[in-house]
Amino acid sequence: MPAATKPTPKSVLISESCLQKRIRELGTQIAADYENQELVLLGVLRGSVLFFADLSRAIFDAQLETPGREVQIRFEFVQLTSYHNSTQPATVELIRGGSNYLKQRHILIIEDIVDTGQTLDFLYEHLSPLNPKTVKVCTLLDKPSQRRVPVTIDYIGFEVPDAFVVGYGLDYAQQYRNLPYIALLESV
Ligand code: IMP
Repeated sequence: MPAATKPTPKSVLISESCLQKRIRELGTQIAADYENQELVLLGVLRGSVLFFADLSRAIFDAQLETPGREVQIRFEFVQLTSYHNSTQPATVELIRGGSNYLKQRHILIIEDIVDTGQTLDFLYEHLSPLNPKTVKVCTLLDKPSQRRVPVTIDYIGFEVPDAFVVGYGLDYAQQYRNLPYIALLESV
């Protein structure tokens, strides 16, 4: 009997240095856009964790480079899950997070990847009763070819092709999250 094929990350799609360079650019842009304001970075667990950490430090570094520019950053997290099957759109559910602290704040949702758009759509609905001052979205990766729900994305790190990617927080069956780069997942 042939051994079961286990998908493995093969080719590097976005290198560590490219990721870090682009994240510094995003940090500079966000620091300028939210100058002298309080901003809640709302991380979507678990995939955004590495991006969240590096982006929040990039915003801080950008402030150091421009004295007088200050963004007061707060951290909040939500954890969502989605169930897919072949015939129905995904059902997204909130597992935890989304506290009252978000009321009347400027919120920047930090995502690892926007694929169908259903997670973001759900999150917008969830945040709406909290009456935030503003809600914007920053995603490391955008896979527009898979979009089912139209969503507005304010900051995009990279657009990726219609392929399953892993690394830098993104997983396949909870594996490969700690790769420092983005790789294409291929079967062996
Ligand atoms: P959406 O609701 O379809 O936009 O899906 C967003 C979520 O699906 C992301 O936060 C990821 O957790 C997951 N996802 C979508 N595409 C990929 C991929 O290529 N690799 C790993 N996770 C993915």
